[in-house]
Formats: sequence, C-alpha cells, structure tokens
Amino acid sequence: MRTAVLISGRGSNLGALIAAAAAPDYPAEMALVLSNRGEAAGLERAREAGIPTAVVDSRRFGRDRAAFEAEVGAALSAHRVRLLVLAGFMRVLTQPFVREWQGRMINIHPSLLPAFPGLDTHARALAAGVRLHGCTVHFVSPGVDEGPAIAQAAVPVLPGDDAATLAARVLEQEHRLLPACLAWLARGEAVLVGGAVRLSGAVGAASGALANPLP
Ligand code: GRF
Repeated sequence: MRTAVLISGRGSNLGALIAAAAAPDYPAEMALVLSNRGEAAGLERAREAGIPTAVVDSRRFGRDRAAFEAEVGAALSAHRVRLLVLAGFMRVLTQPFVREWQGRMINIHPSLLPAFPGLDTHARALAAGVRLHGCTVHFVSPGVDEGPAIAQAAVPVLPGDDAATLAARVLEQEHRLLPACLAWLARGEAVLVGGAVRLSGAVGAASGALANPLP
C-alpha cells in the first residue's frame, strides 16, 4: 500500500517506519515523505533511504489552509498515495481534507488519549501527577487529537522523571506502535467502521498489559 508520511520536524517515527518497511513482508511502502517545513530533519532521513520527498511550506499560505491542502493533495495524487501517516505533523487539517482521508489516515500522539491532547504532553502529565503515561495511534477525525484509537502503549512515570526522560520512554514505545498500526491498516486488519475501530486477524485476538493490542 503506497503510503505518505507527513512530518514537520525530527522524523524519528518516520525512521521507525522506514526501518519496518525494509522488511520484505511489510505491507506498506513509503511512497512519499512530505513536510510543511523545508528544514525538517526528517527530510534528510527520507532522502538517505531513497524515498521521494516534497515540501509544501505552510508559511507561504498564511491562514489559507485549503490552498495549503490543495497543494499537499496534488503531491499525494502525483505519488499515487493510498494511506497517510501523520508523524509529528504540526498542522491542523480542515474537515474536507480529513473527510477525504477518513479511515486511511492515522496519527501518533504522545499521550494516552483522551488525556493530554495538544502540546507539551510530557510536562503536563508530570504536572498532573499521573502514574501511567504513553502514546496513542488513532484514526484522524476532524477534532485535534481526536478519533478512535487503534492501539495505545503505556509506560510508568518514575520518581525523578522530568519531561525529557519521560518523553524518551514514551518515544521508544511510539517507535514500536506506529509501524505495527500502519501494518494493520495496510493489511485491512484495522478498519474504521461507523466511527469505531474494528480489529481483525491476529491483531484482533491479541491483548496485553503495556500495549493494547500487542504489536
Ligand atoms: C512524536 O512525539 C509524536 O508522537 C508527536 O510528535 C513527535 C514527533 O517526533 N506527534 P518525531 O518527529 O517522529 O521524532
């Protein structure tokens, strides 16, 4: 399944996807990496892996999100993209764009949603005093960081943690969870049905304490 990864920065989750997609039986192919910022470090990772890249600089469009998305959409069509992964993509998408890709677009968020949508999730989790934190891969729906979860992974909050140590512990799980979820999506084992996620195949039978389902 030809997949585009949308990024805005470092691209470590992109790196995890590239590594997973190197396996011959991985069901998704990295067809395009698109960034809304030309200086995103993730673009370099893509180039090194020989993946086509595109930059649609969102600053050029001001508040005209529809015009920005029209250009993004043109790049996706040109590369015959079927699935979209938002991996550290820092732009809110309009409802028409989300509707067009509904069921085919997933996002990774660094918290156990619906707790801590938005930014600075690790500092906010520490400030709230939670014992468990983690990450969520979900289908994108029109609300920001909303949409049903395909999988979540939890990590403990440990004494002495600061936002950086907690972020690193969560990121390790992100790098496991996102490639697993994309594989399920590409194989049709994670499907959006009437606003809920239906899991099937080996995935549907799995369950686990730290990641649910287990990747
Ligand atoms: C990750 O924590 C992801 O969950 C969030 O933005 C961060 C992106 O990191 N949406 P990277 O660019 O994949 O390294």
